[in-house]
Amino acid sequence: MLITVEGADGTGKSTQAKLLSEWLKSKNILHILTKEPGGATKECQKIRELLLNPENNISPRAEFFLYLADRAEHVEKCIIPALNKKQWVISDRYIDSTKVYQGIGRGLGIGNIEEMIKFASFGVEPDLTFIMDADTESVLSRAKKSNVEFKGGDRMERENFDFHNKLRFGFLELAKTHERYRVLDATKSIEEIHEQVRQVFKNLLGKNFI
Ligand code: TYD
Repeated sequence: MLITVEGADGTGKSTQAKLLSEWLKSKNILHILTKEPGGATKECQKIRELLLNPENNISPRAEFFLYLADRAEHVEKCIIPALNKKQWVISDRYIDSTKVYQGIGRGLGIGNIEEMIKFASFGVEPDLTFIMDADTESVLSRAKKSNVEFKGGDRMERENFDFHNKLRFGFLELAKTHERYRVLDATKSIEEIHEQVRQVFKNLLGKNFI
């Protein structure tokens, strides 16, 4: 099973991905916890630095292809090998981030980039996607302040309010297009959200799973 956690910056995706991983571990479900960009290899970490360092100035199409380069490495070297070993994969961001950030946020158009996203990801689609949703006002400043990697926020977080608000509604629109999406209210407490995540697995896989 490939599970992805998506949403705008500062919505607590990484915390929920980690809690899900700990819970699966307690149930002896073999899995990997991974992330984009930069989760796969040291080369991917270089791409991450290129993409997120606010000193860099990258045009929207170049940015798009850098995210896809990171993805291609991630899928080939991490995700497919894990799935082949019958391990589950939890990825903190994946294809839906590209659709929303580059397709909607940067205005490249989801329709124009979908095929290229598919090519870069070897056609590997998530089975289940959690979308963390919260009002942009409350999460954006928190994201910038709490960024320890890039003080004052990374290159994406420094985009203006309207950009980030477009992302929020972009994710909500995307969530309507397929049954694999589950929208979670990211303003709730960490424990409440995690409980909702568990509930989703219970509903999908039956009561015995819990
Ligand atoms: P990161 O610090 O890894 O994640 P987060 O802010 O969620 O803790 O930052 C990754 C940034 O890259 C984030 O702003 C989203 C953006 N991004 C894209 O624009 N396109 C993509 O395809 C991916 C995977 C991420």
